[in-house]
Amino acid sequence: MKTAFVSGASRGIGLAIAQALHEEGYTLFLNGRHPETLEPVCRRLDAHPVCFDVGSYEAASAAFDMDVWPYTDHIDLLINNAGIAYVGLLQDMTPADWDRVISTNLTSVFNLSHLVLPGMIRRQRGSIINISSIWGQTGASTEVAYSASKGGVDAFTRALAREVAPSGIRVNAVACGVIDTTMNAHLDPQEKTDLADEIGLGRFGRTEEIAAVVRFLASEQASYLTGQIITVDGSFI
Ligand SMILES: NC(=O)c1ccc[n+]([C@@H]2O[C@H](COP(=O)([O-])OP(=O)(O)OC[C@H]3O[C@@H](n4cnc5c(N)ncnc54)[C@H](OP(=O)(O)O)[C@@H]3O)[C@@H](O)[C@H]2O)c1
Repeated sequence: MKTAFVSGASRGIGLAIAQALHEEGYTLFLNGRHPETLEPVCRRLDAHPVCFDVGSYEAASAAFDMDVWPYTDHIDLLINNAGIAYVGLLQDMTPADWDRVISTNLTSVFNLSHLVLPGMIRRQRGSIINISSIWGQTGASTEVAYSASKGGVDAFTRALAREVAPSGIRVNAVACGVIDTTMNAHLDPQEKTDLADEIGLGRFGRTEEIAAVVRFLASEQASYLTGQIITVDGSFI
């Protein structure tokens, strides 16, 4: 039984990844904060719902004890996808806003990796794929906390890859450009057009286009690929 855990799988990129992994025959454990949106997805993909806030280690650990470990003793593939955006000037951001972005986008990657790694190390195999952003590399004005969180995810990816490679575990990230999800729903039509003009391919990416790269990274075809940040951005200028 191949098992995968996908955080933030109730919609958007996480949902597309879950669908792709379902097609690959994985037994899925899917996460989100809200049962009303997560459970219908889980019914459709024959998956186990695991509802909790990824930013809290205590909540993650309790949820794994209740909804993951009774069904499997290991996770083969962890997708750290859950994330939130925050758009606004740094000086208008409260310390609580900062903590929320960093805990959801970065501390969550520690939380879930920490919970699944013992099983991966015991089996001397496993793969972790972190969903990052091009803003982690370039930095985005009015998205300082988000950029910092994704830059942290990239550094975490490279460092953990080195640490666990001797245990046969691969760790990679996908740095997404602008993908058509609810994360960009706040943009008005003109802002969307202006943003698309900055993309070489002239359009936002589709969630399935990220899922296709994740599917490859998770597969045996990527067996010699670790510690890499794969940029999928349609050539963002
Ligand atoms: N869309 C883009 O342009 C873009 C670009 C670069 C990178 N990314 C990255 O791609 C990932 C997915 O983004 P998306 O565009 O698919 O966003 P989305 O449509 O807003 O979906 C986010 C998912 O994460 C879940 N989530 C949010 N906070 C959570 C928390 N604290 N605990 C557990 N689950 C949580 C949401 O479910 P609930 O709200 O029900 O919890 C939802 O399932 C994120 O890491 C994002 O930073 C996106």
